[in-house]
Amino acid sequence: MQKILVVDDAEVNREILRVMLEEDYDVIMTADGEEALSVLKGRQDDISALLLDLHMPKMDGFAVISDLKEHGWLQKIAVLIISSEHAIEVENKCLEMGVFDFIHKPFETSIVKNRVRNAMELFAYKNQLEQKLEEQEETLEKQHKIIEMQAKKLRETEPFNRLMMEYRAAIMEVETRLKVLNEEFSQVYNRNPFESIKSRLKTPTSIYAKMAYKGYPVTVENIRDHLTDVAGLRVICSFPDDIYRLADLLIKQDDFILLRKKDYIRNPKENGYRSLHLILSVPIFLSNEKKYMKAEVQFRTIAMDFWASLEHKLKYKKDIESTEEIERQLRACADSIEALDYQMQDIRDKIK
Ligand code: GTP
Ligand code: MG
Repeated sequence: MQKILVVDDAEVNREILRVMLEEDYDVIMTADGEEALSVLKGRQDDISALLLDLHMPKMDGFAVISDLKEHGWLQKIAVLIISSEHAIEVENKCLEMGVFDFIHKPFETSIVKNRVRNAMELFAYKNQLEQKLEEQEETLEKQHKIIEMQAKKLRETEPFNRLMMEYRAAIMEVETRLKVLNEEFSQVYNRNPFESIKSRLKTPTSIYAKMAYKGYPVTVENIRDHLTDVAGLRVICSFPDDIYRLADLLIKQDDFILLRKKDYIRNPKENGYRSLHLILSVPIFLSNEKKYMKAEVQFRTIAMDFWASLEHKLKYKKDIESTEEIERQLRACADSIEALDYQMQDIRDKIK
């Protein structure tokens, strides 16, 4: 049976509540706040609800609530105030402090029973959920540690190191082609089609995690076959039309093969994300062979990049409030950014 602690200085009230509840619960009774707290300490996980009087000698109900709040127990134990106090301010104060419910004296048996049952069910459900969440977090942390360890092993193997060298070569290859185009443009048209290039090699930890997520054993062959973004480049352009021009020129290079194109500019993601993604197969030239490697090239404007880096931060924050509001704001910003990008492009065209 779940345990309920009844705290009231009037014996008659305690007795009424005991008789009312003892059929369904294990009822413990105390006559003041101090006694209640000493019963609670150490047994806070054991007691599911507290029926608390407000006006009591020694330590009143408010002091008990403050103490429970300080210990973080108000989230675990359903506290219901039972009081003859009818002032709205008092009731509000209790609710604001975090008590679950307020029952007025004189009380009706069925009302008390129903409210206590509802409160206890809700708290039991909530506590269960929280426990599950904690367990899941623990499992995730364990999995993460295993992945870290395996990634460390991976980092130490020769074939893996060679594969990473090849991906670095692929990054250099794509980067060079882009830089050549930039040079040519600045000479012929007196302007640069992109502002900057950022590149990154996927870390062993992320490689491992992604392979685990995709369900493939981590081997050099599997990484090669199933990951497309080990070599990653991000090209930041000033204007949207530069993105398409540059991407086309890159695809047209006769030894580059376009494996996949994802146009999140014409078809933005639900969250507002906009960029043009190309998965390319590019040749690298080694001492005794020519080999094709996959590389992911993302094209976006400066403003889209600014947006994406901020939005990316949101993904790694678990404990922020009003996530929905932030998501809505981000979507609105993404739309404004698109409008702004095209307006700037118009202005550029007029100046030209
Ligand atoms: P990933 O498994 O995340 O690589 O996604 P995917 O293989 O389905 O490909 P997609 O083209 O959707 O995403 C590739 C990469 O683009 C991601 O790894 C991110 O770097 C970037 N990206 C995609 N969607 C978003 C987004 O919504 N926000 C931000 N900030 N970046 C994104
Ligand atoms: Mg990807």
